Amino acid sequence: MTPTTYLSPAVRMPRSALALKAASIFWFITVVIGQSLFVAYILSLYGGPTVTGHFEGWSRNTGLFNGYVAGDFTGNAMFGAHMMGAALITLGGTLQLIPQIRTHARTFHRWNGRVYMVTACVMALGGLYLVWVRGGYFHIPGALAISLNAVLILAFAFLTLKHAIARNIAVHQRWALRLFIVVSGVWFIRVGLMGWIIINQGPVGMTSNMDGWFDYFWVVGSYLLPLAILELYLRARATGSALHKYAVAGLVTLATLVMAVGIFGAYMFMWKAYLWP
Ligand code: HEM
Repeated sequence: MTPTTYLSPAVRMPRSALALKAASIFWFITVVIGQSLFVAYILSLYGGPTVTGHFEGWSRNTGLFNGYVAGDFTGNAMFGAHMMGAALITLGGTLQLIPQIRTHARTFHRWNGRVYMVTACVMALGGLYLVWVRGGYFHIPGALAISLNAVLILAFAFLTLKHAIARNIAVHQRWALRLFIVVSGVWFIRVGLMGWIIINQGPVGMTSNMDGWFDYFWVVGSYLLPLAILELYLRARATGSALHKYAVAGLVTLATLVMAVGIFGAYMFMWKAYLWP
């Protein structure tokens, strides 16, 4: 028995692995703060009108494509379900990633996971309805990009469930992380746009119709870039050398700092006015 046997796993971890773990914790805490603000905004703006049946109140958000449309029962129901699902899935997703809940509250983790996956599929299919039936898009490339996001949500939900049922827990966890990223795509869009504006001190490559070069890039980059960073993280964690782990820890930290700037911008310029009217 070596002297290190008595130490806790965290202390025995090589420094490079600790750096990667610290970066992932920093990322997760920042995401929790940013997504909690998004949930608060959703509930504050859409919760009251949805629960009380005063659907015309949705249109307080003047940036919507449609929101409430008099006489469009199906469309309004789809929009209301989309808003309540948005709050549920954003809250539920962060709870799924907390290791202590996974270990000590397994029943909750399983049920929350089932609700999360069903909600993800409802959001993806309902979102496709809002885009293609209700015309909720600026332009066809944007509509196709968010539709690809919806298809990835459906595919990753299927793979997450398949590996959970097969008890391939390590593979299940990797697909669950990918699912979390694509479900968070609409959040990354908002946070990324605001971060970009603040860092550049203005809307470089952006227009009010979302057809600037950065708008085109970010409508797919909002989920493909975080997915790429996640893959680098998973590879570094599983098989990376010390240098590889340090490099990815640095990348995750940098991306998180940019994300924090974006969260600040989204809170100040998109959400705050509805949270503290
Ligand atoms: C799964 C995670 C998703 C969340 C959390 C989410 C959240 C939201 C929120 C909060 C809004 C209201 C706009 C605002 O106040 O900022 C919204 C609107 C909208 N969402 Fe989603 N969404 C998700 C997925 C999707 C997907 C996958 C699509 C398309 C395939 C989609 C299509 C739309 C459309 C078209 C609107 C605008 C409706 C209108 O303006 O009338 N959403 N979403």
